[in-house]
Amino acid sequence: MPSERPTTVRLQRLARAYRESGTLLAAVQLDLFSKISEGANTEEKLSIALGISALNTERITVACLSLGLIIKDNNNLKNAPDVERFLIKGRATYAGEWMFFTQPDWSKWGHLADFLTNKEPETLDNATVKGITVDEARRYHRATFSIGRGAGRLFVQSIDLSNRHKLLDVGGGSGAYCIEACKAYPQLRATVLDLPEVTPVAREFIEDNNLSERVDTYDADFNKDSFPKGADIAIMASNLPMYGREAIQAVIQKIYNVLLPDSEFHLIGEALNEDRSGPSDPAMWGLAQTLHNSTGMAHSVTECTGYLKNAGFQNIEVNDFVPEVLMRISGLKA
Ligand SMILES: C[S@@+](CC[C@H](N)C(=O)[O-])C[C@H]1O[C@@H](n2cnc3c(N)ncnc32)[C@H](O)[C@@H]1O
Repeated sequence: MPSERPTTVRLQRLARAYRESGTLLAAVQLDLFSKISEGANTEEKLSIALGISALNTERITVACLSLGLIIKDNNNLKNAPDVERFLIKGRATYAGEWMFFTQPDWSKWGHLADFLTNKEPETLDNATVKGITVDEARRYHRATFSIGRGAGRLFVQSIDLSNRHKLLDVGGGSGAYCIEACKAYPQLRATVLDLPEVTPVAREFIEDNNLSERVDTYDADFNKDSFPKGADIAIMASNLPMYGREAIQAVIQKIYNVLLPDSEFHLIGEALNEDRSGPSDPAMWGLAQTLHNSTGMAHSVTECTGYLKNAGFQNIEVNDFVPEVLMRISGLKA
């Protein structure tokens, strides 16, 4: 009879999962996947292309094979399909910068228990974004843009914007959603609302995409400042876990108040399921806020629908956006 006794296998894997993160980040940093894609498809060729020793090439290759990042095809090395799509430098789909987005927190995770037992009161200002330099904002948003472009395209594929005129993107960052929406809909104009540390960087992305005529920026701390009027569609994407319940409710209320009648709002957020038991990605974004002593946390879809309802939105719907990562919670203002 098979034994049902628990083993330590899962626990061991979790305890050492940082080594798996390290493998992926090192391979991206060395640009190993691009080299394989360009034809360095044996360990020997890879060692020359990377300029690292045969022994270290063997080690990183075996580790990448074991994680399914690369595969063997008739004894030649080949990238897994997701790696080939997102981790080859120079391609429009390259998301290598995003892989490093949370790397500044790397060493802090090793001391998480110390942060959890810290008794300092949490601050509403989120130290990951408030008061950072424009250069830090540029690093941050090169990363968000590398993943946000795809999310922006997914958004315009999910929503019909043909009758909309003005999009307000609250915490819009690089402007990725506004850029993709305005590219897809020539009648649309958009405003990226973000902190004054961030809007100069958004303007760089907007200019690079030749959209300065139709996409503008608005400097505001969304917790403290007023919002511009006149939009008939608003979004807020990928900043849900950065603030607590009260703050998120207040921001959504401000959005409702400035939208024109007959408008829509989409909250694209890292939301937990109804019973708050997962998925793990939103849970980890919430836990990460401990490292920055913010009020941030993981919000559930049920809480999110509540925020929209309390603000006055109607016809509230919950849709998967990026499964296990982002939900899209939307509502209408009559
Ligand atoms: C992870 S980024 C997401 C950017 C963009 N929405 C996207 O999905 O690509 C979070 C954004 O929220 C902005 N943000 C956070 N707190 C803010 C605040 N208090 N006021 C204005 N913007 C804020 C940050 O500056 C940053 O641009």
